[in-house]
Amino acid sequence: MNNIVLIGFMGSGKTSIGKIVAKMLGLKFIDTDYYVEKMIGKSIKYIFEVYGEKYFREMEKRAITEIYNMRPIVISTGGGVVLQEYNMNLLKLYSIVFFIYAPVEKIIKNISFDTKERPLLNRKDWVSEVKELMKKRESLYYKYADFIVDTTDKDIEGSAQEIVEIYKRLYSI
Ligand code: S3P
Repeated sequence: MNNIVLIGFMGSGKTSIGKIVAKMLGLKFIDTDYYVEKMIGKSIKYIFEVYGEKYFREMEKRAITEIYNMRPIVISTGGGVVLQEYNMNLLKLYSIVFFIYAPVEKIIKNISFDTKERPLLNRKDWVSEVKELMKKRESLYYKYADFIVDTTDKDIEGSAQEIVEIYKRLYSI
């Protein structure tokens, strides 16, 4: 069976949903940001601040290279994973990719609690940065998605349930 990969914008709920999906299916869960943090021994915030985004992207790529074929597992990715075609080509080899869609209002609400922890949004005008980044990235999420999970009117449990149902249907389990 293939992996389940969750892609989508920061604050869309990928990590929370992924953890529930993994629990429901009895699969191992890996969050690529957490994996990078363990690899380097530093927080994402520190890595961005001290080594820069380019270095982080290299480490993100290394993390994907190490985990893409550990199937079947559930992988939740950082919002920028789609920026490197290499990552997505690798992930798509052995994964079903779910785009966790959330409307911009929901994203803004979710990340308003921890913009300081998100290096790309640690600035005064973070709301306009969110809108800019979304404009640039949304088409990539759609491009790589096998399925789209619309979280507009769903909580994380409901979204996880939807993913589990699709996965079970695909593998008749
Ligand atoms: C990023 C999203 C973050 C993290 C890093 C960069 C992005 O992950 O990988 O701060 O470029 O969108 P989350 O999507 O889990 O917040």
